[in-house]
Amino acid sequence: MEIVRKVNNISELCSRAREEGKTIGLVPTMGALHAGHISLIERARKENDIVVVSVFVNPTQFNNPDDLRTYPRTEEADCRKLEAAGVDYAFIPSVEEIYPEEDTRVFDLGPVAEVMEGAMRPGHFNGVAQIVSRLFAMVNPTRAYFGEKDFQQIAVIRRMAELEGFDTIDIIACPIKREEDGLAMSSRNVRLTPRQREIAPNIHAILVESTKLAGELTLDETIKYVVDKINSFEEMEVEYYQIVNPLTMQPIKQWSEAPAGESVGCITVYLGDVRLIDNIKYMVK
Ligand code: PAF
Repeated sequence: MEIVRKVNNISELCSRAREEGKTIGLVPTMGALHAGHISLIERARKENDIVVVSVFVNPTQFNNPDDLRTYPRTEEADCRKLEAAGVDYAFIPSVEEIYPEEDTRVFDLGPVAEVMEGAMRPGHFNGVAQIVSRLFAMVNPTRAYFGEKDFQQIAVIRRMAELEGFDTIDIIACPIKREEDGLAMSSRNVRLTPRQREIAPNIHAILVESTKLAGELTLDETIKYVVDKINSFEEMEVEYYQIVNPLTMQPIKQWSEAPAGESVGCITVYLGDVRLIDNIKYMVK
């Protein structure tokens, strides 16, 4: 594995690979790698000749300076994991390398970016669009891999790709990877105290319970069930829980609005100052 820190170098290496007729899989990450990232890399490894993983804590997508400051940074351990996963190029640029000048682009991301994370974290998705568009332009991958834990982010990236004309890049959504107790893997999990870590799996457990009740409960009752049950833990507070159309990300008001019966419940929960997100699919005909 080669560690690449310069934009020119990664672009050159990737354009050479493309000239040789090779396919390129890109896995964008912010480091602090866990088994969820590794599952994306494994899929990229199976489907492409060359695998590029970017490790870059993108400042423009953090609307909260404390969140940026405390975001885990574990470059050495990350490199060992990338090497073991058979990555060809670990692209680990500095902030100055990616943004030699301030990125003032404002993307017209539309309704998919206005709800949920977009409403709670102003500017977050614009920052995601800035970095992912830069990575797409530098690497020009055949395929790019993103985890479904950030369900709304994938819709936003698809929209950005459409706006910017990245129509040759196949954007691949990969299933959420969970700990054995059901907690969605996240780089932020390391910040949980032992007590918070102990109760955090209840988020997924309650979401699963709600899918079993969804046929009997109305959509509003289902939302209330999830929010009340999670909030009944003193240490947890739901920021939002919305059940959305998986194509448009718009909240639906009744089950019958879900296309082909499929909707997705998207949740954000605070445990102390750690903000966890998760989601679950509902199938209610
Ligand atoms: O999902 C993430 O880790 C980030 O938002 C991404 C896609 C790597 C862009 O910085």
